[in-house]
Amino acid sequence: MADFHSELAPRPAAETVPGTPSVLVETYGCQMNVYDSQAIEGILAPAGFSQSRDELEADVILLNTCSVRDLAEQKIFSRVGEIRHRRRDAGREQPVIGICGCMAERLGDRLRKGPSGVDIVVGVDNYETLPGVLQQVLASQGRRPHAVVGHRDEAHYVAPPALYPTNNSHLVTIHKGCDYKCTYCIVPSTRGPQREKDPETIAQEIRTIVAAGGREVTLLGQNVTAYNWNGQMDFAALLQVVAEQPGLERIRFLTGHPRDMHPHLMDVIGTLDTVCPWLHIPIQSGNDRVLKRMKRLYTSEDYLRMAEYARKVIPEVTFSSDFIVGFPGETNAEFEDTLEILRAVKYDQIFSFKYSERPGVPAAKLRDDVPLAEKKERLARLNALQEEIWEEEAAALHGQTWTAVAETPARKPAGAWRLRTANNRKVVVAGAQIEQGDALRVRITGHSNTTFLGEPSAE
Ligand code: SAH
Ligand code: SF4
Ligand code: F3S
Repeated sequence: MADFHSELAPRPAAETVPGTPSVLVETYGCQMNVYDSQAIEGILAPAGFSQSRDELEADVILLNTCSVRDLAEQKIFSRVGEIRHRRRDAGREQPVIGICGCMAERLGDRLRKGPSGVDIVVGVDNYETLPGVLQQVLASQGRRPHAVVGHRDEAHYVAPPALYPTNNSHLVTIHKGCDYKCTYCIVPSTRGPQREKDPETIAQEIRTIVAAGGREVTLLGQNVTAYNWNGQMDFAALLQVVAEQPGLERIRFLTGHPRDMHPHLMDVIGTLDTVCPWLHIPIQSGNDRVLKRMKRLYTSEDYLRMAEYARKVIPEVTFSSDFIVGFPGETNAEFEDTLEILRAVKYDQIFSFKYSERPGVPAAKLRDDVPLAEKKERLARLNALQEEIWEEEAAALHGQTWTAVAETPARKPAGAWRLRTANNRKVVVAGAQIEQGDALRVRITGHSNTTFLGEPSAE
């Protein structure tokens, strides 16, 4: 199978090399895109392109885009216009603008037409064509190559380890696409069917990360818990393989599906010391009629049973989730079942969205009948309740002592660091002599939203 191994040395800091075309890659959407942008940079560097961080200087600007909601797409159209304006106002030549990612896949060649038309369109399974496509466009003013889109089963990227990884965690995509067909969701069409990266490729990628100084990885996919390598290795078994990699200290994973959270998988998560006890398992709605029409394949009771078992077998486990409010036909009473879920699970964090109709998905056949004002109100109620529940949960944690790992210097107070616990709680600590990656015992003294305040502890 074709793995596009880009140059595996850690990525150098962005620097424009005189005489080589420079490329600015901007990333939107989910972590899959963050990883792919790393892969794109890794493909372009050995082909003679340098990195740019400057929208006024870059010869090429690639927008790695998201189609999950209409607003995400509108943002990209505005961004294309903004880039063109800023370059014009600064008296600079227009850059080559390219659209990569999910919008490229959804809209293809259409993106090259009209007032916000871009120069090139390269979809999620075709990034290895970028050097050739860019060389061609840069060499010939006027003659533009066509969009390169379409899914290829065997295309998997292996991104070089990042020097400054997201939240101190190196992303490792373990599979692509999605075979669940949630009726509201565009991802199965933009990312194609679920296709696994070979476990040996994953293990090798992790060894490269560790060799470059990495200590933590986040295994990535739209449904990591559905990982299935030729019927021989499921996600629980993959976790065991990853946990055996020497030198790796922490393993996180995103995103899990409630349907795949079998007791055996939770047992394995609870048993492996290096697997972090944090479950981001989106429920989307707490009402069974809505869940059924979303085709989520579980009931609210199944979900609660899963959470209860996880609490039993995974010490210190925390939960986060995604929610959609105002799915077609959702009544106020049905929405209130979602509020009940917040009360029952007590999430550390939630990500909530107003339903956005996506063209061509099964739910587009249903009437988008919850008025926008009502969606906004439900969203506000959901977030307000979460805040209320979290305030109480967080306050009860003051005085505890946790182990947390230093991620980045905090903006304030001076000399403070941002740290993260294995169960994904953020803590700001002042007065500690630490470096990135160091573990520290911290006593919790307060919190502000989802960030805790702490002090070094001798305990
Ligand atoms: N694979 C993950 C997440 C996919 S997209 C999962 O199964 O949960 C991230 C989140 O965007 C989803 O969890 C969902 O809450 C939200 N989302 C997806 N499609 C949407 C739509 N059409 N309108 C609003 N929110 C949507
Ligand atoms: Fe979309 Fe559902 Fe697949 Fe998640 S599981 S990516 S929400 S279709
Ligand atoms: Fe968006 Fe595509 Fe990710 S639609 S959420 S960038 S898979």
